[in-house]
Amino acid sequence: MAKRKKIVMGNWKMNLTVPESTVLLEKLKKEMPGNVSSEVVLLPTFVDIYRAAEEAKGTKLLLGAQNVAEEEKGAYTGEVSILALKGFVKYVLVGHSERRNIFGENDKVVAKKAEIVVRHDMVPVICIGETLHEREDGLSKVVTLSQLEASCKHLTGEEIAESVIAYEPVWAIGTGQVCDEKEAEKMAADIRGLIHSLYGEKAAEKVRILYGGSVTGKSAKEMKAAKNIDGLLVGGASLDHKEFTAIVKNYSSEISVKKG
Ligand code: PGA
Repeated sequence: MAKRKKIVMGNWKMNLTVPESTVLLEKLKKEMPGNVSSEVVLLPTFVDIYRAAEEAKGTKLLLGAQNVAEEEKGAYTGEVSILALKGFVKYVLVGHSERRNIFGENDKVVAKKAEIVVRHDMVPVICIGETLHEREDGLSKVVTLSQLEASCKHLTGEEIAESVIAYEPVWAIGTGQVCDEKEAEKMAADIRGLIHSLYGEKAAEKVRILYGGSVTGKSAKEMKAAKNIDGLLVGGASLDHKEFTAIVKNYSSEISVKKG
């Protein structure tokens, strides 16, 4: 079976000013262990990406964007294009539940965004997941998998293989209510199963699936057992350097670093 590189992402959302995120990044640079098996990815605000990318140069920290415009260029006041992000970020979130639920992005928009990210050689992190209502109505799987299918519809199997899917049950985001490891693993297995039936075995084995929703140092340790989960998307806890470092340490394995 293909070995998938683990990822831990910190989504700072709209929480930090540039001076505040400068301080946080400085602390993370000092405290983040260099010998962990996971990629560590930070998602600052758009105004901060250029500076953060400069500061992260030469470290193991990678950058991602929280969103992107669905068009490449043009008269779209206030939007940020994929061309503007090129060279600064490796990953781009598309369809985060806050984009879907607060800003009205539907699967069609998310699919266009995923496509534009891939076409510009960056990696989309396609977010999917059910709301509390949908969960209570027993629709978690149906909703999540239909979002997945619709959001990926412009991508080929090879492109899906290189992409990241983030399962983020909306009821677990920012609520302190973590989806337990067994339930998250079951959904991740269903997500991989759908990728298998739509795009084949190779894509299903390679695509990386993250869990997100109220992750802490403690739950990060538990999620390590989930074999279909390849990483964590962390919101609130990523604003605290100690907690975020603990999440990375607890979730990752240590790797030996060659000297010289
Ligand atoms: P949270 O956010 O960790 O604060 O629940 C997760 C997310 O929105 O990605």
